[in-house]
Amino acid sequence: MVSGKDDDARVATRGDGILAGKRILVTGVLTPKSIAFAIAQACHSEGAEVLLTSFGRAMSLTQRSAKRLDPAPDVLEMDVTDADQVRAVAGAVRARWGSLDGVVHAIGFAPEDCLGGHFLDAPWPSVASAWQVSSFSFKTLAAEFVPLMPSTGGALVSLTFDGTLAWPLYDWMGPAKAALEAIGRYLARDLGPRHVRVNTVSAGPLETVAARSIPGFRTLKDAWSGQAPLGWDAADASPVADTVAFLLSDMARGISGEVVHVDGGYHSQGAPLLTTAEPHEQEEE
Ligand SMILES: NC(=O)c1ccc[n+]([C@@H]2O[C@H](COP(=O)([O-])OP(=O)(O)OC[C@H]3O[C@@H](n4cnc5c(N)ncnc54)[C@H](O)[C@@H]3O)[C@@H](O)[C@H]2O)c1
Repeated sequence: MVSGKDDDARVATRGDGILAGKRILVTGVLTPKSIAFAIAQACHSEGAEVLLTSFGRAMSLTQRSAKRLDPAPDVLEMDVTDADQVRAVAGAVRARWGSLDGVVHAIGFAPEDCLGGHFLDAPWPSVASAWQVSSFSFKTLAAEFVPLMPSTGGALVSLTFDGTLAWPLYDWMGPAKAALEAIGRYLARDLGPRHVRVNTVSAGPLETVAARSIPGFRTLKDAWSGQAPLGWDAADASPVADTVAFLLSDMARGISGEVVHVDGGYHSQGAPLLTTAEPHEQEEE
């Protein structure tokens, strides 16, 4: 595993590594700040071959980002709301690789009226769109790509922002993430007998394009620095990426239906940490 922000430290170890010989489809690379970009990097470092997907107008941005990976992976067009496109990509993967060992779902979207304090007003078509792209699409990918996995199995991993809690201004993305986590558990139930593991990584706040569209993101980020016992660097997606690489690997062969928090330990604390500047107060007599 490689951690830390220094790209030079990510010495490629193709041929060995925990993902040696594995073929992984990574969705959701938009910019080099995308969590999926760090995941593609981690997969490469651990010896995997990687293909990326993008969609619509984002394609050119993704292609530009792909050139910053070594080796630069091809980018296939796949809007997860377009069943024909998803099927076509499955066909292209079959033609190229024959089989596939892992899929990373790093996709999230909600229309503006679903975020930022509109919880009681958001109209169903907007909520439906958020859920289709951010939650249901995990099932869409599983249904199309699991048949490409060998009889020995494979792994699916998605990314959430703790859907068990309500967050300020996150609004309908919250229930969308809760649904995504639940879909992971149901997929784990149905795909376990085929030796396919399904897990979700619950990441702390990271500075990406999707995060910029979340009103109040800075407040969340600041809350993390006060409550995560390990601290949290919102500019470093590598701890999340390394965990995804682990979950894609055979090292995680006993793990399925899980939500793994990679959040500096934030979720385990009931309140912000006491700082040395804030000593234990004596109870008043
Ligand atoms: N950034 C954070 O703080 C954070 C924290 C926890 C979880 N996450 C989750 O991580 C995942 C990746 O997001 P990110 O923060 O790296 O942001 P990002 O903006 O870099 O990535 C979001 C991706 O979703 C893709 N996408 C949107 N609609 C799509 C569609 N219809 N079909 C295919 N792709 C589509 C975009 O092209 C983009 O690549 C998301 O699920 C997000 O909710 C993010």
